[in-house]
Amino acid sequence: MLSGGLLTLAAAATVVAADTYNVPAKANPLGEPFDGFVSYSLEFSSFPDFAGNKSHPNTFSGNLLANLARLSTTPYIRVGGNTQDYALFDASQAAALIGTVDPSRSPDYPTTITIGPAYFESYATWPGLGVRFSHGFNMGLGGNRSAGWQTLLDTVPLACRALKGKTYTWEYGNEPDLFSTSAQGPVRPPTWNESTYVEQWLNATRHIRESVRKNCHGTASPRFMAPSNAGVSNHLKATKMWPAGLNQDNDIELFSTHNYISGATSPGVTLQGTLMNHTKTMLSVDAHTKEYDAIFPGARAAGGKGSDKTPPLIFGETNSLYNQGKPGLSNSFGAALWGVDFNLYSASVGFKRVHMHQGTNYRYQAWQPVTTDLDVVGTKAPYYGSVAVAAMVRPVKKNTPVSISAIPLGSDSAEAAYAAHFHPAGRKNRDESRLARVMVINLHGYNTTVGGAGLEPVLNPPARMSRTYTFAVGGAGVKDGARVGVQRLLANGSDAITGITFDGWSYNWDLDHGKPVRLHNVTVGETVKVKGGQVSVDVPDSSAVMLSFGNC
Ligand SMILES: *[C@@H]1O[C@H](CO)[C@@H](O)[C@H](O)[C@H]1NC(C)=O
Ligand SMILES: *[C@@H]1O[C@H](CO)[C@@H](O)[C@H](O)[C@H]1NC(C)=O
Ligand SMILES: *[C@@H]1O[C@H](CO)[C@@H](O)[C@H](O)[C@H]1NC(C)=O
Ligand SMILES: *[C@@H]1O[C@H](CO)[C@@H](O)[C@H](O)[C@H]1NC(C)=O
Ligand SMILES: *[C@@H]1O[C@H](CO)[C@@H](O)[C@H](O)[C@H]1NC(C)=O
Ligand SMILES: *[C@@H]1O[C@H](CO)[C@@H](O)[C@H](O)[C@H]1NC(C)=O
Ligand SMILES: *[C@@H]1O[C@H](CO)[C@@H](O)[C@H](O)[C@H]1NC(C)=O
Ligand SMILES: *[C@@H]1O[C@H](CO)[C@@H](O)[C@H](O)[C@H]1NC(C)=O
Repeated sequence: MLSGGLLTLAAAATVVAADTYNVPAKANPLGEPFDGFVSYSLEFSSFPDFAGNKSHPNTFSGNLLANLARLSTTPYIRVGGNTQDYALFDASQAAALIGTVDPSRSPDYPTTITIGPAYFESYATWPGLGVRFSHGFNMGLGGNRSAGWQTLLDTVPLACRALKGKTYTWEYGNEPDLFSTSAQGPVRPPTWNESTYVEQWLNATRHIRESVRKNCHGTASPRFMAPSNAGVSNHLKATKMWPAGLNQDNDIELFSTHNYISGATSPGVTLQGTLMNHTKTMLSVDAHTKEYDAIFPGARAAGGKGSDKTPPLIFGETNSLYNQGKPGLSNSFGAALWGVDFNLYSASVGFKRVHMHQGTNYRYQAWQPVTTDLDVVGTKAPYYGSVAVAAMVRPVKKNTPVSISAIPLGSDSAEAAYAAHFHPAGRKNRDESRLARVMVINLHGYNTTVGGAGLEPVLNPPARMSRTYTFAVGGAGVKDGARVGVQRLLANGSDAITGITFDGWSYNWDLDHGKPVRLHNVTVGETVKVKGGQVSVDVPDSSAVMLSFGNC
C-alpha cells in the first residue's frame, strides 16, 4: 500500500518491509557541496543550440536552468568536450559554428569545426539567471598545428569580453590523456606524455593570462580547472601530471575529472546491471577519489578546502554511458534514478560539483534544446534526476549549506539512501548537526512498456512492488511526533521516457516550455510521522522519495 501515493500504483503494489537503518547523527565533514552542485557540461559544438544567440535566445534551456536555480542554486555551465579540441576560429565567418560530421570518426558530433565571432553571443542569452560559464579552449589542435595556436590567440580576447563577470573558471584542453590514442583520431604522436602535456599547458595558459591582462582590463587573472582527463588509467595520468609541474603557476582552482559508467556499445551493458546498480556506481566514483587522494593526501578529508595548491574535486564532465548514451537506457527514467544515486554518492565522498554532459541529439541529454531531423525539442528523463538532486542539496533557509552522507543499507545493490545535514549555526559552529532530508532510491527495475522501449504501454503490467524503508532518526535529533514531508520522483516504470514528475511537477516542453506545471494525476502533500525515533516510508520499485524534516 502506498499511503497517499500515486493512485494508479496503489492498487497493484505489494509491500515488503526492508530493514531499519540508522541515519548518521552528524554531518559528514567531506560531504558539503559547492553552490551549483547540479551543473552541466554542454558539448562545445552544441552550445549554440542549447543557448541560442542574441536574436534567438533559447528560452526553453533558460526555463530549465531557472527551475534548478529556484529549487537550489544556479547551475554552472562548462562549454567543452571533445569538440572544443576540433574548433578553429574564422574571423570572417558569419555563422556561429559550421561543423562537418564524419561518421567514421563520430556520427554524433562534427569533427571538423570552424567558429566565427558570433559563437560568443551564446554567452549572453540567459541574462538575469546569473549563470557562470567556462569556455573550453582548443589544446588538441592548439599544440598540433599553427591554425590551432592562432585560434587561441584570436579567441581569448573574444572569450574574455563575452564572459566578463560570468566565468567560474577557465579550461585549456579536454581529455588530454587520450590525445595520442583517441578513437576519434589522435592529435599527438605516441611520444606524448605528462611532461610534454605540462610544457604545452603552461605555455598556453600563460599566454591566456597575458592576453586577458591586455584585452580585458578589470577581469581577474584566469585560474583553471584541470586536467579534465577522461579517466584514471589512460595513457597519461593525473598522478604524473602534478609531479611534472602542472600546477607550478599555482593557478589550478578545480581538479576536474571525467567519468562514464560504461560505454553505449560496450558488451553486457544493461539498465539494471550497469546503471541501476549502486555497487557499480560506487566503484566507478571511488576510482576518482583514490586518484585524488594519491595526489593530495588528506585534502578530501579536510572538506576540499585545503591550501591554494589543493584544488577541490569536481566532475567537469560525466554521464551514464560514453559515446553519447544508449537509447532505452540512458534516456530512460532508470537513468534518472541512476543520476540521483551517482550525484549524491559523489557528493558524499567529496565531489564539490558535478557537470552532467549533454549535446544535441545525445541519448543521455537532460533536454533536447532544438528540433533536428533526429530528435524533437523536449525535456528528457535525466533532467528529473537533476531536479531531485537539486532539491536534496538545496541550502537550508537559502544560504546554510547541507552536507550529504551515505546511509549504509544492506547488500542489495539496487537501493541506496542519503542524508542531508546542516549546521544550525551556519558556517560557524560545526559541532551541532541537524537532519534536513533523507533520499531513498529504489533501483529495482520495473517495466510497463513493450520491450522496455518506453514508447508503447503493455496492457497488463506486472504488479509493482513497494518496499518499506524505516530510518532511525532519533540519533540525528529528530523528535517523536514530528511531521515529515514526502516528495516523490515518479514515473510509470524504469523504462518510462516521459510522464515523469518530482513532487507532482512536470517540466515538459509540451506543457509550458519547461516551466513547472503541477499535474493532477499525482498525489502530493503526503506526510509521515516520527514514532519511537523512527520514520517509515513506502518506496515503489523504480522510484525515489525525499523526506524533509523540520520544513527544510
Ligand atoms: C541566431 O540564431 C538563429 C536561429 O537559430 C539563426 O537563424 C541566426 O542565423 C543566428 N545568428 C547568428 C549570427 O548566428
Ligand atoms: C598532429 O596530429 C597528428 C595526427 O593527426 C600527429 O600525427 C602529429 O604528430 C601531431 N603533431 C604534433 C605536433 O603533435
Ligand atoms: C616524457 O618523455 C620524455 C622523452 O622521452 C622523457 O624525458 C620524460 O621523462 C617523459 N616524462 C614522463 C613524465 O614520463
Ligand atoms: C608556445 O606554443 C606555441 C605553439 O606551439 C609556440 O609557437 C611557442 O614557441 C611556444 N612558446 C614557448 C615559450 O614554448
Ligand atoms: C552490479 O555491479 C557489480 C559490480 O560491477 C556486479 O558485480 C553485479 O553483478 C551488478 N549487479 C547486477 C544486478 O548486474
Ligand atoms: C525490462 O525490460 C528490459 C528490456 O526488455 C529487460 O532487459 C529487463 O530485464 C526488464 N526488467 C524487468 C524488471 O522486468
Ligand atoms: C502511465 O500509465 C498510465 C496508467 O496505465 C497511462 O494512462 C499513461 O498513459 C502512462 N504514461 C505514459 C507516459 O506512458
Ligand atoms: C499523468 O499525466 C501526464 C500528463 O498527461 C502523463 O504523461 C502521465 O503518464 C500521467 N501519469 C499517470 C500515472 O497516469
